[in-house]
Amino acid sequence: MSQDAMKKQAAAAALAYVKGGIIGVGTGSTVNHFIDALATIKHQIEGAVSSSEASTARLIQHGIPVFDLNAVGELSLYVDGADETNAQFQLIKGGGGALTREKIVAAASQQFVCIGDESKLVSVLGAFPLPVEVIPMARSYVARELVKLGGTPIWREGFMTDNGNVILDVRHLEITDPIHMEQQINNLAGVVTVGIFALRPADVLILGTPAGAKTVTKA
Ligand code: 5RP
Repeated sequence: MSQDAMKKQAAAAALAYVKGGIIGVGTGSTVNHFIDALATIKHQIEGAVSSSEASTARLIQHGIPVFDLNAVGELSLYVDGADETNAQFQLIKGGGGALTREKIVAAASQQFVCIGDESKLVSVLGAFPLPVEVIPMARSYVARELVKLGGTPIWREGFMTDNGNVILDVRHLEITDPIHMEQQINNLAGVVTVGIFALRPADVLILGTPAGAKTVTKA
């Protein structure tokens, strides 16, 4: 079974968590499958809060109303993908560059359901280059600080986030204490958001596998 078919399975399984109201929607290829699945039950929901311009466009294409987060209260559900997850559902996100808005919508939601294919589950975070969104004038300074932390930052050249910032993808980090590293990198002047989601991890993990979608909840 292809990786994309496994992502599609996980996305379909996430529909079980949709209980109406306004749904927080993430970004990426797995979430694109979720948006397509959500469209089949769109009469059961009020609409969505989106984490990126790309997801907003897809939601609107399907006729799903998109609300500003400031216009709605706390969300009951957020569904998003991840680049990596560990067994504690702490994540690396931002492969698609939408990490800041994703972190905001995750923080504003009661339940975070993370969807992906089985390859996303790792024992230690960090094989996937860690995305860090940075204010453009701070790019070189933040890169030097990331080197001091043991990483090798690479500027994602030619890419601008929905917020007008740049991304540094940091290789060679073995993230054994995700909460500490999230706080450490977030504290660097000029960093908007680091793609470690450990202070607010996912609550439910749905992984597509050749044997079907597997749902894991926290003990
Ligand atoms: C975007 C993200 C995505 O959730 C992450 O990159 C996973 O993407 P995909 O579902 O395409 O594998 O964090 O900023």
